[in-house]
Amino acid sequence: MFVATAPANIALIKYMGKSCDRENIPTHSSLSWTLNHLTTTVQLKPKAGDEDTWSPLEKSQSSHQQLSQFGQQRFLKHLIYLKNQFQLGQAFDVQSHNNFPSESGLASSASSFAALTKAFAKALQEIKGEDLSLQQCAKLSRKGSGSSCRSFFSGCLWKPDGQLCPIDFPKDWRHVVVLVCKDKKTISSLQAHKRVLTSPLYKGRVNRAEKRLQDFMAQLKAEDWGRLHQTLKAEFWDMMGLFHTSFPSFSYLKPGSIEVLNMVDQLWADAKEGPLVTMDAGPHVHLIWRDDQMALMSKLKSLGLENFPTLSSF
Ligand code: PMV
Repeated sequence: MFVATAPANIALIKYMGKSCDRENIPTHSSLSWTLNHLTTTVQLKPKAGDEDTWSPLEKSQSSHQQLSQFGQQRFLKHLIYLKNQFQLGQAFDVQSHNNFPSESGLASSASSFAALTKAFAKALQEIKGEDLSLQQCAKLSRKGSGSSCRSFFSGCLWKPDGQLCPIDFPKDWRHVVVLVCKDKKTISSLQAHKRVLTSPLYKGRVNRAEKRLQDFMAQLKAEDWGRLHQTLKAEFWDMMGLFHTSFPSFSYLKPGSIEVLNMVDQLWADAKEGPLVTMDAGPHVHLIWRDDQMALMSKLKSLGLENFPTLSSF
């Protein structure tokens, strides 16, 4: 039995739009921070025969952690791709579970494809004696889900030419995701990548993302928290703007998302300080705090955040 666990990641500069769908080549660079507290564990159990199978989770596991039929097929397809790359004939029974909700816009595809690729690498090592490097695993994983290639590093800059550069983030950063609703998302990121190309705002997106990446790196170096906040806010609204102006348009925002975003704005207006904020292709709001901001966090709770469930890295 081959078991591996991998973390999700949150993009600070978003990967949205591909120049090659089949290979998951992004139109511009993206930058992510890995969320070690949100993980997927994949188990590959060797079995007789040629066909890989999917085993549902034990009943005791919550249903929101189950992958949809479409998600399962995508997963098994990636396993076949991996086996074909290395002529590995062995069939497997696959089980996967997250410690957070699946397909709700919490980057579960990143952690699950990274975990599947890692579990496969263990099987390959054991069965054929072949070792895969971290960079090789990341590149293979990219084929299943683009953003999963970034989950192999604690922070990662992914460039359109395929380069994956590890990035160090400050040790005192803490992550909180505010869970705004329980629904599974109706537009997958696969669809979103295609649709955004129809937005009139996509023109200029590549330059905007690359420029923000440069700004972000300079602001990170200068520890300019206020500007980092402005850059990340502009970046996620840029992506949301693409969603809202695509043909046909779509949205992940829920009333609760706006409520939380307004609370954070209120905190920044009152205290001239607050968390960094970003959103993914989902309704949830991601907050990044520094260790020394715990009093501010309590203030945000009293502004209404205490009414929402959260998942935190501490
Ligand atoms: O890896 P995919 O194809 O699920 O794309 C993920 C895209 C976003 O999560 C919306 C942004 C990102 O960079 O992670």
